[in-house]
Amino acid sequence: MASILSAVAWPYASGPRHIGHVAGFGIPSDVFSRYMRMAGHEVLMVSGTDEHGTPILVAADQQGVGPRELADANNEVIVGDLTKLGLSYDLFTRTTTTNHYEVVQNMFRVVRDNGYLVEQTTQAAVSPSTGRTLPDRYIEGTCPICGYTGARGDQCDNCGNQLDATDLIEPRSRVNGETPKFIDTTHYFLDLPALADALQEFLDEREATGLWRPNVIKFSQHILDEIRPRAITRDIDWGIPVPGWEDQPTKRLYVWFDAVIGYLSASIEWARRSGDPEAWRRWWNDPEAKSYYFMGKDNIVFHSQIWPAELLGYNGAGSRGGEPGPYGVLNLPTDVVSSEYLTMEGDKLSTSRGVVILVGDFLERYQVDALRYFIAVAGPENQDSDFTWSEFLRRTNSELVAAWGNLVNRTAAMIAKNIGEIPEPGALEPIDEELLAAVRGGFATVGEHIENHRFKAGINEVMRLVGEANAYVARTEPFKLKGEDQQERLRTVLHTLATAVVNLDLMFAPYLPHSSNAIDALFGGTGEIAPLPRTEQVEDLGGGPAHLVITGDYSGVPAWEPREAVIGAPIAKPTPVFTKLDEGIVAEELARMGLEA
Ligand code: MF3
Ligand code: ZN
Repeated sequence: MASILSAVAWPYASGPRHIGHVAGFGIPSDVFSRYMRMAGHEVLMVSGTDEHGTPILVAADQQGVGPRELADANNEVIVGDLTKLGLSYDLFTRTTTTNHYEVVQNMFRVVRDNGYLVEQTTQAAVSPSTGRTLPDRYIEGTCPICGYTGARGDQCDNCGNQLDATDLIEPRSRVNGETPKFIDTTHYFLDLPALADALQEFLDEREATGLWRPNVIKFSQHILDEIRPRAITRDIDWGIPVPGWEDQPTKRLYVWFDAVIGYLSASIEWARRSGDPEAWRRWWNDPEAKSYYFMGKDNIVFHSQIWPAELLGYNGAGSRGGEPGPYGVLNLPTDVVSSEYLTMEGDKLSTSRGVVILVGDFLERYQVDALRYFIAVAGPENQDSDFTWSEFLRRTNSELVAAWGNLVNRTAAMIAKNIGEIPEPGALEPIDEELLAAVRGGFATVGEHIENHRFKAGINEVMRLVGEANAYVARTEPFKLKGEDQQERLRTVLHTLATAVVNLDLMFAPYLPHSSNAIDALFGGTGEIAPLPRTEQVEDLGGGPAHLVITGDYSGVPAWEPREAVIGAPIAKPTPVFTKLDEGIVAEELARMGLEA
C-alpha cells in the first residue's frame, strides 16, 4: 500500500469546459485514481478551478462583470459538469480561497528567501485608456520580419518567428484596437538557471525509470537547453498579491505561479477539512509517496519544469542552497502524464468558432458512460485523436451496447426467465473453467495497464474478455437447454455467465462507474462499487465567501480481485443499462454545429 497523489490539471474558469478538456485531464485521472483505490492504495485526488490570469479578466470585461463574478459563475458550471462525469475528486476547490492565497504566499516567501526569485526591469505594453498592461499575445501588428499584418506580440503565425511586442510595426491592442504605450516595469523572475542542474538531475532520474511517456520526457529535457529566468509577477490587478509589494496593487503573482501550487494548497485544504490538518504530509513529505500529474500537452512545461523548479527552490535544492520552509521537503512529481489533443470532426476544438461540444450539452443528450467509454477507448492518449459523431455512434452501438450491454442483458434475462435467481452451479466443464480463468486473469493484465497509464489497452482488454464471454454463450447455447435432463447444465452455464459478468463489471468500474453500479445492483450487489462524487457548499477556511467543492467518500470500494456471484440473489427481467443511439443523431449533431453531414 502506498500514498498516491492524483494531481489533476485545474481547468480555467474563463468559460465552460468542452469534451477535449475532460479527455485530456479528466477521464484518465479518474480511471487511474479509481483503480488505485481498488488496488488498496491511499489515494488523494485534488484539483480545482484556475481563476486568475488575463483570459478571465478579458472575458469578464467583455461580459461587463467583475473577474470574481465571472469565476463564480463558471466555477459553478464546471463543478456541476465534473460531478456529473463522476470524477472522484477527494477535493476539487478553487484558486480564490483564502487557504490557497496563504499557501501560495508562504511558498513565494521561502523561494525568495532561498534566493531563487530575482527582480528585473523590462518593458511592458500598457493600454492608455484602462491603464492595464497588455500581455504580448493581446497585441497585434505588422511582423518586422515578413510584413504579415496580423502578427501577435509573442509570435508571428505567418513566418513562425518568436517576437517581442516592442518589435511590432504599428502595434494595436486586440482587446480594443488602441495603440499601446510601452513603459518600464519591475518584476520577480524565477531564477531557473540556478535550478537547472537540480532540474536536470530530477529529469534524468525520471528518465531512468522508463515510465514517462517518451514525448513528455524528451520535450522536458529539450526545454532545459534554453533555460532563462522567467517572470512570475504581472502588471495586472487580478491575482494573488505579491508579498512585500502590498503597496503596488496593480502587480500580482502570475497565474501559473499560483495555479501549480494548487496541488499542495488543495491537499492542505482537504486535510484541514478532514479534521487532521497535518494529514497532507503523507503525500508530500514521505519520500515513498508517489505523485501523478494529469493534463493536456500544452501544460507539460509547467509541470515538468516550472512546478519542479518552484519545489526545488522551496526545498533549497538549487545551486544557491537554502532551507526548506515549514511545509518541509516537498516531493517532486513521480510522473507527468500528458494527453495529446482531441480534434472534432477533423478540426481543432475551438469555442470561439463554435466547433465545440460543451460537457454540459453533451451530458444533457447522451449517457455519461458512453462519453467515458469513447474517451477511454478512442481518446488522445498517445497521439491526437478525432471525435466524430459517426464514430461515437458506432462505438456506442456496436461496442458498448452490442457487446457489453448485450452480455449483461441476456445473462440477466436468461436467469430471470429460467430460474429467477443466480443459480448454484453443478460440476464445471472445461469450457466453463476456461472462461472463468480468462476473466479472473484479467485483473492482473488490466491492472498493470492502468497502473502504467495505458488506459486504452486496459479497456480493450476488458472488452476482449467480454468478447470471450459472448463467444461462450454462442458455444454453450444456454437458450437451447430446455430438457429436464439439461437443467443442471443450464444452471452451471448461467452461474458461469453471472460470475463472468460481475467480475467484468468490477474491471469496468474505474472506467464506467455509473453503469458498473447499475449492473452490480442488477446482479444482487450493493450498487455502490464505484462511489460517486458530490457537490457541496462549504465555508471558506479563512473567512472569505462560502464556495462549492467536489468531494466524496471512496473508502468502501471493493478490492481489485476476482469475486463470486451472489448465489440466490433474485434477478428480475432487466431493462437495458446502455441506450442504443438512433442513426439520426449524426446529421442532427452536425447540423447543430453548423457542419454538413
Ligand atoms: N488552467 C490550465 C489549463 O486549463 C491548467 C492549470 S494546471 C495547474 O490549461 F496546475 F496549473 F493548475
Ligand atoms: Zn512574420
